[in-house]
Amino acid sequence: MTAPRDVLGRPIRDLRVSVTDRCNFRCPYCMPREIFGASHAFLPRSDVLSFEEIFRVVSVMSLLGVRKARLTGGEPLLRRDLPDLVRLLSGIGRLDDVALTTNGLLLASVAQALKDSGLHRITVSLDALDDAVFQAMTGSEAPVTQVLDGIRAARRAGLPVKINCVVQRGVNEDEILPLAEWCRGEGCTLRFIEYMDVGNHNHWQITSVVPAAEIRDKLSSRYELLPVDPAFRGEVARRYRHADGGGEIGFVSSITEPFCRDCNRARLTADGQLVTCLFASGGTDLRSVLRSGASDQEIAEFVSSVWTRRDDRYSELRSEAAARTKVEMSYVGG
Ligand SMILES: C[S@@+](CC[C@H](N)C(=O)[O-])C[C@H]1O[C@@H](n2cnc3c(N)ncnc32)[C@H](O)[C@@H]1O
Ligand code: SF4
Repeated sequence: MTAPRDVLGRPIRDLRVSVTDRCNFRCPYCMPREIFGASHAFLPRSDVLSFEEIFRVVSVMSLLGVRKARLTGGEPLLRRDLPDLVRLLSGIGRLDDVALTTNGLLLASVAQALKDSGLHRITVSLDALDDAVFQAMTGSEAPVTQVLDGIRAARRAGLPVKINCVVQRGVNEDEILPLAEWCRGEGCTLRFIEYMDVGNHNHWQITSVVPAAEIRDKLSSRYELLPVDPAFRGEVARRYRHADGGGEIGFVSSITEPFCRDCNRARLTADGQLVTCLFASGGTDLRSVLRSGASDQEIAEFVSSVWTRRDDRYSELRSEAAARTKVEMSYVGG
């Protein structure tokens, strides 16, 4: 099978797999409670891909060039027996990396099982250490210590942990330095993500975005940070390291410096839509192909035909993307 390139010459390297559209948080920037409340229609179970179906897609896509699979959601740890899926995926020899993005709330009790199943690394989303700010940003009453315990359990299990922090103007700017200090002490890499205009319900405004450069300046007032060369083409974070060896901090400038040009990422939604851009209006129905009894070759041809037609660079054409209805972040998985 030949590895496809899209219209802009980009290969397919990275697959994000959303295993559920449900979540135990209601972060206002992702799943605001007024939209994702009791009356919201989540996917029926029969629409959601089974672990075997996900395994098959990832396995076929690894033949087309995918080297990294990241499990996400919604909240992936809500999916029962997730370590079983990790075990299946980590057995695909062509993958270099099987990763997980989680809000960490349920992590403490499952971290060791995830590691034992072959998970390579984990990213925990954490926007604040202060309970009041944390609860406002997650739309929950959970104590932040529950997530911190999850992170520590993952570290004890031997998993490298990255922390993702979305910074919103006037909401959690004061958390930047405390989070940096905490991550330094715990041996976690920290990444600051610019607040993005994903989905349709978070009332995003450019004035709520704290540019990565501003966050970096704030950190530089306390720490000496040295730039680190990108590890590979298409790396989304600009990385820096503490000059004294205290770990790394990265910045994802999706708004102020869009990086569509090198984007090699595909997304599989929980119900088997293949989505080629975070800012797309929808995907292509791969589940029907899977459930029609297609062979691996036919699945590969279907994926290749979607990928070779791909010309998205919506983040670079922001005003155009803003006018359209977009897929929800909790559906497509980030
Ligand atoms: C959709 S969540 C899914 C996985 C898991 N529930 C979690 O929160 O880590 C994946 C990532 O998307 C990020 N995210 C959601 N909405 C965002 C937005 N509007 N701008 C930037 N990042 C966002 C979250 O902070 C999280 O790190
Ligand atoms: S960012 Fe993650 S934790 Fe927050 S609502 Fe979205 S899916 Fe849930």
